[in-house]
Amino acid sequence: MSSAHMGTHGAVELRTIEVPTASRSYEVLVGSGLLDSIGPRIKQATGSSHPIVVSDSNVAPLYLDRTLAALERAELASASFAMPAGEVNKHLGTLGDVCQAIAEAELSRDDVVVALGGGVVGDLAGFAAAIYMRGIQVVQVPTSLLAMVDSSVGGKTAIDATAGKNLLGAFLQPSLVVADVDTLSTLTPEVFVDGIGEVVKHALLADEALFEELSEHPLKQDGEKDYLARVVARNVEIKRDVVAQDERESGLRQTLNLGHTIGHAIEAASGYRLGHGHCVAAGLCCMARATERLGWSEAGMAERVERCVAAQGLPTTTDAPIDELLRQAAFDKKRHGQTVNVVVPTAVGSCEIRTITLEEFSHIVELGC
Ligand code: GLY
Repeated sequence: MSSAHMGTHGAVELRTIEVPTASRSYEVLVGSGLLDSIGPRIKQATGSSHPIVVSDSNVAPLYLDRTLAALERAELASASFAMPAGEVNKHLGTLGDVCQAIAEAELSRDDVVVALGGGVVGDLAGFAAAIYMRGIQVVQVPTSLLAMVDSSVGGKTAIDATAGKNLLGAFLQPSLVVADVDTLSTLTPEVFVDGIGEVVKHALLADEALFEELSEHPLKQDGEKDYLARVVARNVEIKRDVVAQDERESGLRQTLNLGHTIGHAIEAASGYRLGHGHCVAAGLCCMARATERLGWSEAGMAERVERCVAAQGLPTTTDAPIDELLRQAAFDKKRHGQTVNVVVPTAVGSCEIRTITLEEFSHIVELGC
């Protein structure tokens, strides 16, 4: 079933993507004007009568009242909590505050945490839902591009520890994901563009036609909204096709880490000043340059990846010293002893996982970065 909503730039089709996983099947809705109709959708998907909306200090002033009003119209008496915004607050202390707010709101086992915000809110509120009463439901309402195309789908929840990002977490598939592309208009341009790193990654992994389209047509925050919604929905499908087969990342899901081992090292080397998507984009280019030179990727791959990344306004290189990248990569949680699994883009639209030694990985970093 599809319907359309008239946005400022023409009709935006409502797209529904079914995500079947071993632990739960759910819908991801992508469209315009969805926040105002969220009440009945949450009621139907969760059966909860008493949700709590967890948001942050950036998103709450923009969208919390509208969300609460939409829930009230569906006769859902809702509590709310706004955490301080930013990755720097994705830690145990804030998790404790959110759990406390959920407990004070007296949510029962049948209730739901509604995560309204970007990746940080989704990860942290999702983790709170995963541990409150040993697990209640979560509905993800992503308001950043990165959260829409990646973190709100697939059930990974986490907080950071001093020793590294996302070290504490749980898998909890959402009961529903509602991606209202209207919310993208209030992101800062840098945060909007940051989300495109994961979009390019998905296209490179699985969709050559989308990759070509992205190389020609930059995604614009204030551009054609249905193009944006179509690209978000296609990204959700690509991720769905992976997590439906491998929810717990025992095999195929590792392919979603394309560009991430180097990307995480770039991110850490910048002291987390560079956005995740910017670092992933540079990581994709480094991998493509190195693996093409090794003969693991088809000829011309590096130039095509650089062209797509640059067209979207993202960096194709890093100025981080090689030594520092190698030092950071040594701490990567995806490492297994003396080996690391890397995702090789064999051609645009396909990839393979290779287990390589740390020496071979160092060679890749030297060749590509
Ligand atoms: N962001 C990668 C994953 O969800 O597995």
